[in-house]
Amino acid sequence: MRKKIIAGNWKMNIKPSETAALVKGIAEATKDFTNVDIVCCTPAIDIPAAVAACAGTAVQPGAENAHWEASGAYTGEISTGMLVDAGVKYVIIGHSERRQYFAETDETVNKRATAVIKAGLTAIVCVGETLAERDAGKVEEVIVRQMKEGLKGLSAADAANLVIAYEPVWAIGTGRTATPEQAQEVHALIRKTLGELVGVDAAEAVRIQYGGSMKPGNAAELLAQKDIDGGLIGGAALKADSFAGIIAAAAAAK
Ligand code: PGA
Repeated sequence: MRKKIIAGNWKMNIKPSETAALVKGIAEATKDFTNVDIVCCTPAIDIPAAVAACAGTAVQPGAENAHWEASGAYTGEISTGMLVDAGVKYVIIGHSERRQYFAETDETVNKRATAVIKAGLTAIVCVGETLAERDAGKVEEVIVRQMKEGLKGLSAADAANLVIAYEPVWAIGTGRTATPEQAQEVHALIRKTLGELVGVDAAEAVRIQYGGSMKPGNAAELLAQKDIDGGLIGGAALKADSFAGIIAAAAAAK
């Protein structure tokens, strides 16, 4: 049985001064749901406040990106060593917004994910097709390429520190959610591809999240699917009650 994992992706929302209240609100609203991993991935500047607020709660702090080099002349970047030192546990890698606006490629995703995992952190590696790719019948081709290139070189042992997030780009922030069947089909493809990369046993243990307009009203039907092990949540993670509603659905899922 894979433990469900619900992670918030705060993106460029929530100021440092607002962070403690949101984390504490989430912790309070979810304290009975001990069978779900709960993560808040915050802007880098919020991390110290998030780590402090998570202490003594079941909420775990995360980051939204990390660089692959240990240190050096990389203005604006943050190393995995810095994140470890700050107390972060999870790092989102390769979100579609980073691919779309910040020139992230499968190659840089691979470098970042590898660095995160080697640092002992858990990488949440995002994959997903655009609407044009779906309409062109290229879902499988795109997902398999993102997986094979993005996870190149990772071992079965590394997979213990890996979560995959399937986020169809057309469902992110649009209010348009993949149907449970559409999502399950891709999740099954992701697990099969992962099996080819790290072995079937390791792939069976990896949690695969769905992301893209997940909210309390649609979480249960998505989380009921065989290969959907959690969610990566944008908009609905910015309020304690909506985020807690999704965590409640995960706690109740079989
Ligand atoms: P959304 O974002 O829940 O607002 O669609 C999900 C994500 O981008 O991770």
